[in-house]
Amino acid sequence: MDERMRKDVVRLGRLSGERTGEMTHFLSSMHADRHIADADILVDIAHVLMLDKQKIIDRKVTKQLLPALLAMYDNGICEEVFDDRFEDIHAGIESVLIGSAGAEAGGRLHIGRSRNDEVVTCIRIKLREELLKQMSALLKVRGVLIALAAQHKDSVMPGFTHLQHAQPTTLAHHLLAYEQAFSRDFDRLRDAYTRVNLSPLGAAAFASTGYSVNRDYTAAILGFDGLVINTMDAVATRDFALETLADLAILMVNTSRLCEELIIWSTSFVRFVSLDDAFCSTSSIMPQKKNPDTAEIMRAKSGSVFGSFSGAMMTVKGLPMSYNRDLQELTPNIWRGMQDTKESIRLLIDMLASAKFDKERMREEAGKGFSTATELADSLVRAYNIPFRTAHNIVGRAVQKGDLSLGTLEEAARELDSGISLVKKGLTQEKINNVLDPEYSIGLRKAPGGPAPVAIKGAIHDRRKQLDADSVIVDQKLTKIAKAREELISKARRLIA
Ligand code: ARG
Repeated sequence: MDERMRKDVVRLGRLSGERTGEMTHFLSSMHADRHIADADILVDIAHVLMLDKQKIIDRKVTKQLLPALLAMYDNGICEEVFDDRFEDIHAGIESVLIGSAGAEAGGRLHIGRSRNDEVVTCIRIKLREELLKQMSALLKVRGVLIALAAQHKDSVMPGFTHLQHAQPTTLAHHLLAYEQAFSRDFDRLRDAYTRVNLSPLGAAAFASTGYSVNRDYTAAILGFDGLVINTMDAVATRDFALETLADLAILMVNTSRLCEELIIWSTSFVRFVSLDDAFCSTSSIMPQKKNPDTAEIMRAKSGSVFGSFSGAMMTVKGLPMSYNRDLQELTPNIWRGMQDTKESIRLLIDMLASAKFDKERMREEAGKGFSTATELADSLVRAYNIPFRTAHNIVGRAVQKGDLSLGTLEEAARELDSGISLVKKGLTQEKINNVLDPEYSIGLRKAPGGPAPVAIKGAIHDRRKQLDADSVIVDQKLTKIAKAREELISKARRLIA
């Protein structure tokens, strides 16, 4: 092995003095760089193709560099590259390449670029793939929620405010509320993608380079949608990562809220849902226990993802232009936040799909706590043209007295306004009973987005259409980057054939 290969080629010239293992380990980003290693090979290949096209390097050099890079692409990157003595994957690959292709050719790989534009190009390539995976997972969660809603259009349940019985609704309505939240999470990630998938390459250290590099060419062959145009901004900004992490944190907050509901609904005093055993644990001492641990861990993961987001935020908040090594410390937060979110969302899909909802229990609770009192007040307004506040007070007073019978309502009305008699206006016990029925109350709530079965039917139709449109967007993006990769590799192979 060439002696040079054993060293970090970047350090050879300027610096002397051996570094301790502890020091190299502290400075190295190698561990986190495993996430961007594959992307780095693509970036190297694209850079060489550009240098060749622009005649910055001779074809002879191209023919020495590309086989070595393609070998890493085809066979995987050798472990040697990941040694901690290299500051990062970029130094590792370059050093190994110089070892295998020789210094004459290998030493030309880094013409017209810097690790500063290189690393952030790699991050963006990896991140766009992760974003698309995350968006695909969200499509699945939404699909499960819509399918469950379709099964539970008529599953009546109590709706809550302040966690108190408020008004009856349906399980479909409740689940579709979450589908909307996940749909906005999808939109946020899609929007972030437009700023992630831009190429910083050609920015070099920050001031671009005197070589006639072709930034548009490398951007196109790497499947980017455009350039991060200002070269100082290109190496310095990580706001694309911050917004992605913010979006993931919000997504995880929505996930956490849903988990909280599943946890409450699966308690023995609520019993609206039974989670599949696979997602639950038992106790080492209490043999009867079935605990919703998966939902609990997910609820906690939202905190971890927020930690990744805030860690990344704090890393950049005081940095002057342009590249500062602090940025290296930000990157693991991206992968950690992504990983936590990805694992959670994947499990959420199956946890929801396998959950068993107890329609009878939900129906039993739907009418409790005077949950149809609003509809009774509204009915008095509609039938007898009395002001809503008067009706609200009458019904409220009757609730205070303990029941919503005709006698109690009449008494309450007289107490509040001696001139008013609901009986004289035509109110009967039968009319009251009819209005207090949860199904009746739900059926009236047909406004767009409401819980009435007819409104839910429309909502399910609309949400399915939106889901289809969103999955086309993901497919288009996946196809574009897969095609770019394929063309990049075959272009490189053709050049050396
Ligand atoms: N490992 C570095 C990072 O992750 C790559 C860029 C290093 N640049 C430098 N000037 N030291 O940010």
